[in-house]
Amino acid sequence: MEKLEQLYEGKAKKVFKTDNPNEFIIEYKDDATAFNGEKKGSIGGKGVINNKMTELIYTMLEEKGIPTHFIKLLSDSEQLVKAVTIFPLEVIIRNTAAGSICKRVGLEEGLKLDTPIFEFSYKNDAFGDPLINDYHALAMKLATKEEIETIREMTFRINDILKDYFLEKGINLVDFKIEFGKTADGQIVLADEISPDTCRFWDVKTNEKLDKDRFRRNLGNVEEAYIEMLKRVKD
Ligand code: TMP
Repeated sequence: MEKLEQLYEGKAKKVFKTDNPNEFIIEYKDDATAFNGEKKGSIGGKGVINNKMTELIYTMLEEKGIPTHFIKLLSDSEQLVKAVTIFPLEVIIRNTAAGSICKRVGLEEGLKLDTPIFEFSYKNDAFGDPLINDYHALAMKLATKEEIETIREMTFRINDILKDYFLEKGINLVDFKIEFGKTADGQIVLADEISPDTCRFWDVKTNEKLDKDRFRRNLGNVEEAYIEMLKRVKD
């Protein structure tokens, strides 16, 4: 499988065409940004770790009946995926209050939420990925009503699976961001990555942060946190 024309370069990944129109190659990078690209840096080994972690988690989710774009790993930093059109929605679930919701509505960081909070952000860097709701998504034609329902149902199922999966590994899944895509034949699948870049992972016993917040907030031991999370997922 060979990389042809580069279709897209994001902050953490590149996407390439292949000789099969139904398959893309994703290359994971070590580059890291935060606050909509204001803070820039690099996390050594991140590309390899996030590629591997996404493979392991997507394979587990597929086994539990969640359709994903993942096909197979190609190398340490590359994976083959189904070609999809990504919905311009960042889909977020929060199980514990942290990050932007604390600033937005004044919840204390670490507060366990009785019911998970579901959020959409409009995936658009120029506008800083603003928080939107179903009505915006519909009116802006980002997805149809049925597509929004499918995405929401899949996201809650994914949350149930991931919460248990990480708890067994001694991790509190505080929150996460996922994305969805549509294949050429119209199937909605989980796309993008699931990694310390896109989730908040806290050690159950110590509450130590094992995710990108260590980079965002200059907490140190960034690489070590990514290595520890891959180890927990592999165990
Ligand atoms: P937030 O608290 O900053 O809104 O982040 C919620 C979750 O989404 C957190 O797990 C980190 C993840 N996230 C991304 O994956 N990409 C982003 O651009 C942002 C802002 C957050």
